[in-house]
Amino acid sequence: MTGTTSGSRLHLPRYLRQDESLRTPVGYAGYRSTGLRAPLRAPVDLPQRLTEVTGPVLGEDRVTAQDADLTWRNGGEAVGQRILVFGRVLDSGGRPVPDALVEVWQANAAGRYRHVVDNWPAPLDPHFDGLGRVVTDSLGRYEFLTIKPGAYPWGNHHNAWRPAHIHFSLFGRAFPQRLVTQMYFPGDPLFGQDPIYNAIPDAARHRAVSQYSLERTQDNWALAYQWDIVLRGTDQTPFETDDDGDVA
Ligand SMILES: [Fe+2]
Repeated sequence: MTGTTSGSRLHLPRYLRQDESLRTPVGYAGYRSTGLRAPLRAPVDLPQRLTEVTGPVLGEDRVTAQDADLTWRNGGEAVGQRILVFGRVLDSGGRPVPDALVEVWQANAAGRYRHVVDNWPAPLDPHFDGLGRVVTDSLGRYEFLTIKPGAYPWGNHHNAWRPAHIHFSLFGRAFPQRLVTQMYFPGDPLFGQDPIYNAIPDAARHRAVSQYSLERTQDNWALAYQWDIVLRGTDQTPFETDDDGDVA
């Protein structure tokens, strides 16, 4: 369905509503801290008006090549298993999303974040801050060079360790294409006891796990993992017509 603002010929796209059966619940009993911070009321779908369906200004010219290489900070190289993480950002119609802002944050090889409240006894790395960002190219592709994050304990239950993961934040071309999620690594032995991973509905869980890529693994340099990300798509590309009906 296409919406039209009253009195103008500007046709707004409509972003598809999420399939509720695949939606991760806002509260999940096994993930204890959600009991304190999960909303008590059901989520409300935003109306899709001009503000919601047009794109934010990302300042993409401020994103540099160094931002996509997390292995080098403060004049030295981070310790750990070097990995290339790459993939495509697609919308739900399978179309690439160019110029999407992809931001990541992660623990270091020992499983520790450079964060004021992370003080478990694992070492910090002076050459790793765990922060990166990149803008997708015209085919929706992104890639980061980083260090494989370690597992870390998090106190949710006795001997609770998070599977290795990288946090992702994405901004597509409009606010309905905002996504904050986590990428996991294939075959992690910690999946079975992780309530954050298990809170994802069964049918959608595989989408959170990257795949090892022998093709992109670089000899004598780095292992590679592929992870394609799907953002909500539109059923209509925005367009504007002038009075005689031609596309402006
Ligand atoms: Fe984390």
